[in-house]
Amino acid sequence: MLVLTGAGISADSGVPTFRGEGGLWRRHRPEELATPEAFERDPRLVWEWYGWRRRIVAACEPNAAHRALAAWQAADAGVRIATQNVDGLHGRAAAESGIAAVAAMLLELHGSLFRIRCLSCGRRAEHRDPIDAGSVSGLPRCAGTGGCRGPLRPDVVWFGESLDPEVIETAFGWAGAADACLVVGTSAVVQPAARLAEVTREAGGAVIEVNPDRTPLTPLATVSLRGGAAAIVPRLVASDQPSVTSR
Ligand code: OAD
Repeated sequence: MLVLTGAGISADSGVPTFRGEGGLWRRHRPEELATPEAFERDPRLVWEWYGWRRRIVAACEPNAAHRALAAWQAADAGVRIATQNVDGLHGRAAAESGIAAVAAMLLELHGSLFRIRCLSCGRRAEHRDPIDAGSVSGLPRCAGTGGCRGPLRPDVVWFGESLDPEVIETAFGWAGAADACLVVGTSAVVQPAARLAEVTREAGGAVIEVNPDRTPLTPLATVSLRGGAAAIVPRLVASDQPSVTSR
């Protein structure tokens, strides 16, 4: 089982989605905040925006959908998650469930709000400290060995950038080998993520979509479940657990 998730799975936790009502891209222009050019032009503004998003996410909790998927992974090593989300809520749900091997079963396709990458030495690391985006001099600098001090950027994939080749290769491997792709809370308009479900379908697997609205993947879906992730995913996962289905 490959589970492909998008911003909609975290909507029930209070994390804003990108498109649709109240979506981030309705109020902000991606080219000013989420491109390498924007960061080169105004790193302070970009960090201010990512600092704000970090604070929102840090105040949110994984919801019933994240928890149900984490429990499913704990019970079945064949369940893999590829998320487009940078909020880290899948990882937090897994950590709460005590799943040690989650890193190997969870791919963050678009990176993480809580990781940084150095523009000078390329070092990547976890980074959860508050961001002082009041001035350029307060922005985070690299603390790598050798006294790098290079500028740090959020370790997320921006518009115009490619996904990490290793990550995407692993994701396509999972998609091609999956009996089913469970697609939760994505508008399925961003590639190559949306293509993962098509790969499962082309390889003969099923596509199950959970979303309150139709998406470009709906015509491809074997089953479409209309509704919110926190309400539907736990029931779906429970129906796969013998202890529940035998009752
Ligand atoms: P979008 O904001 O494009 O889509 C969110 C989807 O979630 C929509 O299809 C909604 O109908 C659905 N949705 C809303 N509430 C839901 C709920 N409670 N339960 C289930 N579904 C719900 O977000 P993504 O598809 O994740 O990329 O966007 C893909 C990428 O575009 C993001 O990763 C980001 C963005 O630009 C980067 O930043 C690289």
